Amino acid sequence: MEGGGRVVGDDRTADPRDPRGLRADAPLLDAWLTFTAQARDGRLTPMSVPGHKQRTDLTGAVTAGDAPLYGGLDSIKHADLLLQEGERRAAQLWGADWCRFSVAGSTHGNQALSLAAGQPGQQIVVTRLLHRSLLLGLVLAGLEPVWVLPEVDPATGLPGPVPVSAVRGALARHPAACAVFLGDPSYVGTTGDLAGHAAAAHDAGVPLIVDAAWAAHLGFHPDLPPHALAAGADAMVTSAHKALPAYTQAALVLARSGRLDAARLDRAFEATHTTSPAGAIMASTDAARALLARDGKELCGRLLRTVTAARRRLREVPGLDVLDGPGVEPAKLTVLLAGTGAHGIAVEADLVAAGMPVESADRDTIIPIVTLADGEAHVARFTETLIGIIERRRGTPRRPVPAAAWTVVPEMALPPREAFFSPNETLPATAAVGRVSAELVAPYPPGVPVLAPGEVITAAALDALRAAHADGGRIAYAADPTLATLQVITRR
Ligand SMILES: Cc1ncc(COP(=O)(O)O)c(C=O)c1O
Repeated sequence: MEGGGRVVGDDRTADPRDPRGLRADAPLLDAWLTFTAQARDGRLTPMSVPGHKQRTDLTGAVTAGDAPLYGGLDSIKHADLLLQEGERRAAQLWGADWCRFSVAGSTHGNQALSLAAGQPGQQIVVTRLLHRSLLLGLVLAGLEPVWVLPEVDPATGLPGPVPVSAVRGALARHPAACAVFLGDPSYVGTTGDLAGHAAAAHDAGVPLIVDAAWAAHLGFHPDLPPHALAAGADAMVTSAHKALPAYTQAALVLARSGRLDAARLDRAFEATHTTSPAGAIMASTDAARALLARDGKELCGRLLRTVTAARRRLREVPGLDVLDGPGVEPAKLTVLLAGTGAHGIAVEADLVAAGMPVESADRDTIIPIVTLADGEAHVARFTETLIGIIERRRGTPRRPVPAAAWTVVPEMALPPREAFFSPNETLPATAAVGRVSAELVAPYPPGVPVLAPGEVITAAALDALRAAHADGGRIAYAADPTLATLQVITRR
């Protein structure tokens, strides 16, 4: 290949690497298949990056299939056109007029949408159940959060949606706010009234932006809720790698411009994206989009049947429950353990030992992820394994205690950006109570900050973090993950 250009003309029929024949409707996938076939056949002498030069005898198989977008899927000069075509097709599928493919997850999408939402110093109405990436998006953009809180269900200890009345109230109290930014579905799969939130935001003349990281499949079956844009949101980010069969890191950022400016969205997106996107990631997003467009209804139907069957089976077990009913994403399987007395972290360890790692576990809750890729037999096998482990781990039934992430009552002393850049010092955690946090501390998963830069460190927050740690949770992003010390803003 010369200059990284794409050579056309190889055999496109019946490529076993494209078992469902998606390439005809997926230009980036088509380009990836072509490029990697040439590499495989020894028809490339790339004098361009990446440095592995398509060889697998140096660092080995770990780079197999790696192809840059620029100079791999197409020449550096033409790859933008190819990407635009993939993104155009995705925009059309989701009813958007602006779409970008990200290779940096919903993390990047949240940050890009923050940078597109307002001006430094402006307020923004945001759920306090936000993922850490969105909080750091606010730091980057210099936006000042007006927090809205979800309701926590005492029966499950899990968060529900942010009420529309809370958003309307926040907008009434802060009429200069530039946008409303919510997460839906929540990490545990509860859903809110997005149409109501869109109406509230639009009545106040501002856009509704939704972190829909877990919801790339929504809207593709009549028994699934509509996706955020269809419900009236102006923009959404979703991780193709979470709900769809796409490469890790693959995400889509989608918008209906008007209340948000398309050129500003582009600038915001590019400001925090790599200049060397991995073509394999982008091609997998394109392929997942083509799959959804053609087979989405059938595959989502199977997903819904599978999750319904798993919920039914799990509920037969004494003491075991699942989230279900109105206000719960029907394809989410959130397992409630408290009534069995089994400890979620021990159950998770047994699942890992059985080769069945789950997305998340804390004392009272286990969240396996079921996607379009799961067959009914596969999920049934998981369900029976889980039940067997729970039976072995049974204990005294207990009341669920809401995890630290769901019960934060923030007291903001400084805007996050100001706190992020302030001089700070490290104190023993107990001495840090009452001081202003310089750092973001989030049990992960779910990655919701319990302490955010600029928030007062309360005894309740510290106790909740210590409880999460003692229960076997990973305390992420803290300078000291043992929580012996915390970083606080230096007093002036
Ligand atoms: C609600 C939410 N938003 C954003 C993200 C970040 O997504 P990604 O891992 O694709 O960057 C996550 C990750 O789990 C999340 O749960």
